[in-house]
Amino acid sequence: MSNMMDQAAVDSRNSTFWSELCGTQFAKSLGVTDSSASSLKKFDDWYFAFYPYLFVHIPFEDMKGKDVLEIGLGYGTVSQRLAEVGALYRGLDIAPGPVAMVNHRLKQVGLDGQAQQGSILQAPFPDESFDYVVAIGCLHHTGDLFKALEECQRVLRPGGKLIFMVYYAYSYRRFYQARSETLKYMLREIFGFRGVVGLSAQAERAAYDANQAGEGAPHTDWVSIRSLRKLCRGYASFSGQTENIDNGVPFERSPPRRELLKSWIPRWFGLDLYATATK
Ligand SMILES: C[S@@+](CC[C@H](N)C(=O)[O-])C[C@H]1O[C@@H](n2cnc3c(N)ncnc32)[C@H](O)[C@@H]1O
Repeated sequence: MSNMMDQAAVDSRNSTFWSELCGTQFAKSLGVTDSSASSLKKFDDWYFAFYPYLFVHIPFEDMKGKDVLEIGLGYGTVSQRLAEVGALYRGLDIAPGPVAMVNHRLKQVGLDGQAQQGSILQAPFPDESFDYVVAIGCLHHTGDLFKALEECQRVLRPGGKLIFMVYYAYSYRRFYQARSETLKYMLREIFGFRGVVGLSAQAERAAYDANQAGEGAPHTDWVSIRSLRKLCRGYASFSGQTENIDNGVPFERSPPRRELLKSWIPRWFGLDLYATATK
């Protein structure tokens, strides 16, 4: 665990930090300050346009009538879409803010489903409860990626799929911003290590997730495809693909993000690693 925090401390800090909904800065820049249906639609339209590849990785239409658990809810955009396509929706988040937002959304649009507060490290669900688990940008914040993957596997039915996004250890940003840690990690992997990048500085975490006060997330892991495959060894199959790039350093003078997204860079050195693990 990074930063010498024990798990209870990570959980407690996560619960506080993430109650400011992830995406709040973007919402503000869009002029979204309330949670009316029209404001949330504005946010959701932006979210899906900003992350267009979500539709490639999350098979929304196949989830109709299926038991789907989402972990790490944030502003609830994916949550609402899952409920809208007819998934039998359950949500889980360690922070009260996202849980309240998702339950508000479901009620506001008259959809079934329920979100509850809790940690994926002790998922409050019986074995083999779900056909899909969806976790976008969450498991690398828990403080124990391997345990989180094991819990997802436990609650999935045989043949069920975990669809998730975690941060990629060999992205252009990591080479640029945390070069020596990245090279050290690469060297360790060459000698057989399989796991996540260890200790991280506040600035590294804040480059990925910062609250309005500019503080970084309490805990963040980065992982390679090779190590993630190993961490998913309890699953029958695994596939991974990198995505995402932005106009931050070193691409401030490059073409706009929508053009960069079409380039080869996100495929090889993208910020995020999308993976599907089948039980
Ligand atoms: C970066 S946000 C992602 C939110 C959303 N999926 C999105 O794409 O915007 C990470 C979320 O994971 C949640 N989270 C962190 N640790 C968790 C844990 N141990 N169990 C469940 N949720 C957790 C946080 O509260 C937060 O809502």
